[in-house]
Amino acid sequence: MDHRRRRNLAVEAFTVVLLLNQFVNVNGSKYPCEFPAVFNFGDSNSDTGGLSAAFGQAQPPNGESFFQRPAGRYCDGRLVIDFIAQSFRLPYLSAYLDALGSNFTHGANFATAGSTIRPQNTTLSQSGSSPFSLNVQWYQFNDFHGRVRNFRSQKGDEIFKRLMPKTKDFSNALYTFDIGQNDLTAGLFQNLSIDQVRASVPDIVGQFKTVIKDIYNQGGRSFWIHNTGPFGCLPYVIARPLSTNGQVDKYGCVGPYNDLAQYFNRQLKETVGQLRKDLHKAVITYVDVYSIKFALITQATQHGFEHPLRACCGHGGKYNYNMHVGCGGKVKVKGKEILVGKSCKDPTVAVSWDGVHYTQAANKWIFDQIVDGSFSDTNIPLRLACHKQY
Ligand SMILES: *[C@@H]1O[C@H](CO)[C@@H](O)[C@H](O)[C@H]1NC(C)=O
Ligand SMILES: *[C@@H]1O[C@H](CO)[C@@H](O)[C@H](O)[C@H]1NC(C)=O
Ligand SMILES: *[C@@H]1O[C@H](CO)[C@@H](O)[C@H](O)[C@H]1NC(C)=O
Repeated sequence: MDHRRRRNLAVEAFTVVLLLNQFVNVNGSKYPCEFPAVFNFGDSNSDTGGLSAAFGQAQPPNGESFFQRPAGRYCDGRLVIDFIAQSFRLPYLSAYLDALGSNFTHGANFATAGSTIRPQNTTLSQSGSSPFSLNVQWYQFNDFHGRVRNFRSQKGDEIFKRLMPKTKDFSNALYTFDIGQNDLTAGLFQNLSIDQVRASVPDIVGQFKTVIKDIYNQGGRSFWIHNTGPFGCLPYVIARPLSTNGQVDKYGCVGPYNDLAQYFNRQLKETVGQLRKDLHKAVITYVDVYSIKFALITQATQHGFEHPLRACCGHGGKYNYNMHVGCGGKVKVKGKEILVGKSCKDPTVAVSWDGVHYTQAANKWIFDQIVDGSFSDTNIPLRLACHKQY
């Protein structure tokens, strides 16, 4: 190789490095986002105390693996949203509905267990659907946002100002969503056919879209959206006599229900695509939590877990789940009342906490899969979820 060619190659290599540097800088993706706040919307997958505040506390042994007492979560410990907040070095989110002891400086949680996207026509006691559907969570967020602006524009009220975000935090915050599963199960549990529920999916994702657009119009820019999980693999669904007619797939799951979840997810993903086109300044990340949860359940042993279809805290039957008495409730056995408590030996290797919700160990595992972006449709890691990469 003559000298000139060698020099040219060196120059070329140098130029490539320069270009790469420039690319990374222009892209901005090098810098973590430093979200000052997280605002979360959802169901029990991310409820940190909402339903408990409105309808009575989750009972022991909920919370015992981490908080040593019930902490408004339907779990033995922390949820994915807790690990998300923790990863930004933010405190765990206070439930918006929690009147005492809450501190909203770094965000608020509007999620409640049993929440749906669409308002339901049945009450909590009839069907288990929370009255705090996504549209109500959005009213609450609007009110919260408006009050913060009012307080911040007035003199005085210093005490309250130490409990709320700054006005500009609303545009720099991360908005997280994990909701939709209960819309599907609500229909199925009301004996609608899978096809009937499927037909309602466009309306469900349409209402979801409306909320995202409005938050964007209020200044929200970074959105982190979880799709819905394989609820056909959850004990509370499989154990319902009608849901299977005895038919389960090779994993023990109700395949057609998982197909319905996937159908919802495809529509949700499409909606996210439309939102990206409509909302130019938004960074919207769609996270395939379905695949993570499905892998956890169907390859549990491989990932260090066991008995993925058995509730850890429950009572009776193949799934250790009783649809009439949940974890922390009381059940009569041979005339004696006993507490439905933890019956698995080790919740750190259990997937299902109470037949409906995942254990803290499962939630941590799920979080570990989503944090680096491998399951985001833009491959964007959580800490970079304010950067546009598509
Ligand atoms: C509730 O009832 C209204 C009026 O009949 C209907 O339009 C709506 O779709 C129903 N909601 C659900 C979730 O079924
Ligand atoms: C609420 O939390 C923030 C940040 O963690 C802290 O600075 C503030 O003092 C807290 N408010 C009160 C009233 O303790
Ligand atoms: C659904 O069907 C089952 C069996 O026919 C019945 O027991 C149950 O009450 C029905 N549920 C609703 C909400 O209609």
